[in-house]
Amino acid sequence: MVQGLEVFPTAAALARGAAERVAVVLDGALQAGGNASLALSGGSTPRSLYELLSEPPCRDRIDWTRLHIFWGDERCVPPESAESNYRMAQQTLLRHVKTPPHHVHRMRGELPPAGAARAYELELRSALGAGPDEIPRLSLVLLGLGEDGHTASLFPNTPVLDERRRLIAEVFVERLAASRITMTFPLLNNARTVMFLVSGGSKAAILRSVLQEHRPALPATGVSPQAGELFWYLDRDAASHLTEREIP
Ligand code: 6PG
Repeated sequence: MVQGLEVFPTAAALARGAAERVAVVLDGALQAGGNASLALSGGSTPRSLYELLSEPPCRDRIDWTRLHIFWGDERCVPPESAESNYRMAQQTLLRHVKTPPHHVHRMRGELPPAGAARAYELELRSALGAGPDEIPRLSLVLLGLGEDGHTASLFPNTPVLDERRRLIAEVFVERLAASRITMTFPLLNNARTVMFLVSGGSKAAILRSVLQEHRPALPATGVSPQAGELFWYLDRDAASHLTEREIP
């Protein structure tokens, strides 16, 4: 199902390549008319991508006023916390672009997780005009990869991996002793385009396990957009355990 896999020499080149792809995908989605939707990843990898998207030339290739911005997941912390995925995106990208405030859909990490997840699903459905039994089709989802194979906040051995009805769910992660809010597989796998960004030698082993061994116990292996595109954007260090002939 992998539509494309690109390996860049450095993390900086990866960010530039990913920014180009994001601009192409979003511009294409907006050409179709109406609004488009972008789900941002958390963590540290996308920071440099967001900074590139926040300045010319990429910034000016996207009509940010017609984008709805979501998050693939959020830590259960207040928005001003250094842990907040919203805060990172707000600082590196959103304060520099013209997305209207009512198009920025923040997961309420400061609220009790279950209620925040339920509220977010209602907000997502409403923003994208999806009925209670429909699965909205996000234009573009950005994802990272954890060293344990998690993506968004779909962590190994958590019940949220088996969620097939809810689009947004809360999850308590034992290893972190913390709750998270996350998009679930039904929503992620209905996206038009999913892009993984993976950087650094610390991800090389898990990336091989996901991309070449397809270990089902690893949540990232479960991301496979049924009628969409899946891109892996890697730097050379992250790709160092992949063998040429086995790259999908
Ligand atoms: C989060 C992310 C998470 C992240 C991976 C990789 O909230 O942390 O959504 O899934 O993408 O853990 O994180 P790094 O980019 O920091 O390695």
